[in-house]
Amino acid sequence: MSQEDEVMTVNETKPHFEPPGMLIAGEWTPAGENGQMEVRAPYDGSLVARVPAGGPRDVDRAVRAAAEALRRDDFPRFDRVRVLEQTAAALSDRRELFARAIALECAKPLKTARVEASRAVETFAFAAAEARRYAGEVIPMDATPPGSGKTGFTLRVPVGVVAAITPFNFPLNLVAHKVAPAIAAGCPVVLKPASQTPVSALLLAELLDGLGVPAGWLNVVTGGGGTVGDALATHEEVAYVTFTGSAEVGWSMAAKAPRKKVRLELGSNSPLIVDSPSDWQTAASKVSTAGYAHAGQSCISTQRVYVHHDIADDFLEELLPRVEDLRLGDPLDEHTDVSSLITRDDTERMKEWTDEAVAAGARLLTGGEALEHGIFRPTVLEGPPPQARVQCQEVFGPIVTVTRYADFEEALRLADDSRYGLQAGVFTDELGKALKAAKSLHFGGVLINDVPTSRADQQPYGGVRDSGNTREGPAYAIEEMTETRLVTLQT
Ligand code: SIN
Repeated sequence: MSQEDEVMTVNETKPHFEPPGMLIAGEWTPAGENGQMEVRAPYDGSLVARVPAGGPRDVDRAVRAAAEALRRDDFPRFDRVRVLEQTAAALSDRRELFARAIALECAKPLKTARVEASRAVETFAFAAAEARRYAGEVIPMDATPPGSGKTGFTLRVPVGVVAAITPFNFPLNLVAHKVAPAIAAGCPVVLKPASQTPVSALLLAELLDGLGVPAGWLNVVTGGGGTVGDALATHEEVAYVTFTGSAEVGWSMAAKAPRKKVRLELGSNSPLIVDSPSDWQTAASKVSTAGYAHAGQSCISTQRVYVHHDIADDFLEELLPRVEDLRLGDPLDEHTDVSSLITRDDTERMKEWTDEAVAAGARLLTGGEALEHGIFRPTVLEGPPPQARVQCQEVFGPIVTVTRYADFEEALRLADDSRYGLQAGVFTDELGKALKAAKSLHFGGVLINDVPTSRADQQPYGGVRDSGNTREGPAYAIEEMTETRLVTLQT
């Protein structure tokens, strides 16, 4: 019997959570057109919840309910502000419950899951603040002859029904980053959470429903595979698709819905340059968490580190013991730093990619082992060639590569040599180099004296190249989810 079989045959009848079903047109439906499906904890296979297994017909009902809500227009802005503010407060009160749901369903260590729950509070609070504030502008029409005698202004109108498709790695806060701005912008939403991690999303929907969101403004369809996502993204009544996930799925979704606004927040193989002189000790300490938090399963996990020759040995001496000290184990254990990857296939992939890099000439400095419960030992590889998958693809696992360089220009070139472009970090004491990096690196964010694995929920967040085509953060998402409508009055 394989390790996976052993884990997955853990037989429990009582799930940890019992969400009331999925929410369509203001009603909770316990089963979808494909019945129900089980959500199991990646760590030990225990039953987290049973949720509906929705399909295209459920999607159709949900989207039509959302379109009907938009026509009814019964969720005025002051009420949307109220709901967003009260959601922030209610989430804050229930932080521990949400943290436990997150920890169980995606094996995110509890202490990190608590941070995610607190961040979701901020996401709703910022969306509420923006919902109070955003507005059109007055246009000085009479500044040119064609505008003579006209008064002009713009309205910000909701783009229409929003389809939100979210990933497993932040099952609450990345849902919040789509649902909260959509509510703020006045767009009804149909949410499809990741099939591995729908529980936090359903708990959030229950909370929102309890706060009096009118029927149809928030719908959640749970289900497996790409069928639900595809049916949602291509539905004729959906105006706007917001997707976070892999580049492959995201760009193919955009191709299937060419006439919709499809906004993608995708992956990366995020680089960090540690130059000399710089505070490389802080850099090493930050990498020891930034490369391994949630087992590296973040789009901005620090993956490729470029270190100046002069400090490389010292940097590694600081980094390696910290990585080796990370506590591995059960996500519900208060002390765990790194737990399971989302699937056993991913754990095996880590092993395969590490072995491939070593065969291609990389030095394995620590880690490289697949352990029980689907945990992969935090790994540092030195000097893999650029074409090794740990270097040129998104690892999405607990592996950091270290490459030595001789001059800053070379480091910029190496860091920028990627199909991705989400966030990059640069440690340097020299302002000129910091500015040069900020101007020349092709990324959505360049973080000076920080690792790329850093996000405040109000900042613009998103990438260029294969990393996507949008910026999230409530203010930026609301901008994207509303359209400018010009109004002129001739007098
Ligand atoms: C992501 O994986 O893109 C989200 C990272 C974050 O919000 O910290």
